[in-house]
Amino acid sequence: IRTILTRPDGGAALSGQTLKVGGWVKKGREQGKGTFAFIELNDGSCPANLQLIIYADVAPLGQVVATGTCLHVEGVLQMPPEDKQGKQAIELKVVKVLEIGSVDSSKYPLPKTRLTLEFLRDYVHLRPRTNTVSSVETAGSNSKFRFQVPVHGLTGSIAAIARIRNTLAYATHTFFQKHGFLYVHTPIITTSDCEGAGEMFQVTTLINEAEKIEKELIKNPPPSQEDVDLAKSDVKGKGEIVAKLNVYTFGPTFRAENSHTSRHLAEFWMVEPEIAFADIEDDMKCAEAYVRFLCQWLLDNCLDDMEFMVEKFDKNAIKRLQMVSSTNFVRLSYTEAVTILEEAVSKGHKFENKVEWGIDLASEHEKYLTEVKFESPVIVYNYPKGIKSFYMKLNPDKKTVAAMDVLVPKVGELIGGSQREENYEVLKERILEMGLPLEPYEWYLDLRRYGTVKHSGFGLGFERMILFATGIDNIRDVIPFPRYPGRADL
Ligand code: 4AD
Ligand code: MG
Repeated sequence: IRTILTRPDGGAALSGQTLKVGGWVKKGREQGKGTFAFIELNDGSCPANLQLIIYADVAPLGQVVATGTCLHVEGVLQMPPEDKQGKQAIELKVVKVLEIGSVDSSKYPLPKTRLTLEFLRDYVHLRPRTNTVSSVETAGSNSKFRFQVPVHGLTGSIAAIARIRNTLAYATHTFFQKHGFLYVHTPIITTSDCEGAGEMFQVTTLINEAEKIEKELIKNPPPSQEDVDLAKSDVKGKGEIVAKLNVYTFGPTFRAENSHTSRHLAEFWMVEPEIAFADIEDDMKCAEAYVRFLCQWLLDNCLDDMEFMVEKFDKNAIKRLQMVSSTNFVRLSYTEAVTILEEAVSKGHKFENKVEWGIDLASEHEKYLTEVKFESPVIVYNYPKGIKSFYMKLNPDKKTVAAMDVLVPKVGELIGGSQREENYEVLKERILEMGLPLEPYEWYLDLRRYGTVKHSGFGLGFERMILFATGIDNIRDVIPFPRYPGRADL
């Protein structure tokens, strides 16, 4: 449907052609006292629908007009009558219905009335078919945009987000491949807590009861439980190969932290490049170039879906992408950032969280820097060592580490990264200083024992990037099957 409707001539040159189309009914209505029906069909390829016209001798109209019905049809493309041209898009006159996946409209769980994204989370499997019939409001507290039915009728908001997600994934591989990075697959199951912060899920392999009994019968030792953890981040897996070349990975990441916020998931996707011979400066350059590339790529390759987001969720979404793709990010040391926040407090700005050197920046602080003070992405670097991980490079002041976060308007922290500590003695000391055991990190220390290298990397939270691009308020709505406390079933 996208290939028909996005042609510059609106499909006119295809008029008269016979083709097969499959999709789901967004809206159908019988006309002319039941002699024919108009159907808005969406196949997930774009926000717009193709109009079908079906006569009663071709199919039982009552069955094909129900919202949610799957139709596979053969028909002839025709331009609308002359008086309607310019107002109405090309339509398909159906000559044969090949398949019908019918829907009992009295039981279809998605009502035709206004749907919130929050409501849709309970119908994860049907979300891509969302009907935004008369208006939509976003789930978060900022919901302010109500809208009327667009010209093409009903559209799928979750489907638009899924296409933007897909486009960003493609852009990610394009960017890193273009710059000679090797895409590596790192394991998810691990016994090592790579951030040293303990926010790991335990995977417990329980041998089932029957097996237990059987083993007891043959007098084997009782089955043991094996505890392994799901990777919080692949930072050290990549460190192992970084000495040879630049690599990146892009995969699911798990955090057993309190994720009852609109920016945290228990399972999310992270893009993590690691750059050999790179310092924090190179790291910041790479992060900025990557984020700007993603924004430009969306403008170049996904404009119809972005226009949809502007219409329905965030009128500034496209402007924000344009701004970011063409702006140099502001750079501030952590100390400068805290000074700016302290100045704001002294001028009467109220923050809920205390501002003083040593704090972790709260989202209200990130908001102030990116939305009030600079109205731009801001990279904050050189954080106090006490609030960052052990593997980050200790600066000569011995108080800060060469860590950097990319903060963006609307979302706050989008990227976290650092130059890594390549000095064996310092790294060992830092592990002990953070109260961590040495033994599980011996293999990591080996990398510093044998041919150590200066290197840097970062992680971009993929869902946060989608939040930033689309203007959606809640991170649970930008991943097809969100995982958060209380939701691991659908
Ligand atoms: O800042 P973080 O914790 O950094 C790391 O994991 C580093 N090991 C990355 C690296 O240097 N290779 O996480 C990186 C990014 C954050 O900036 C944020 O965008 C996202 O991952 N993130 C989350 N996204 C969704 N839900 C969560 N619970 C997230 N935690 C982090
Ligand atoms: Mg972070």
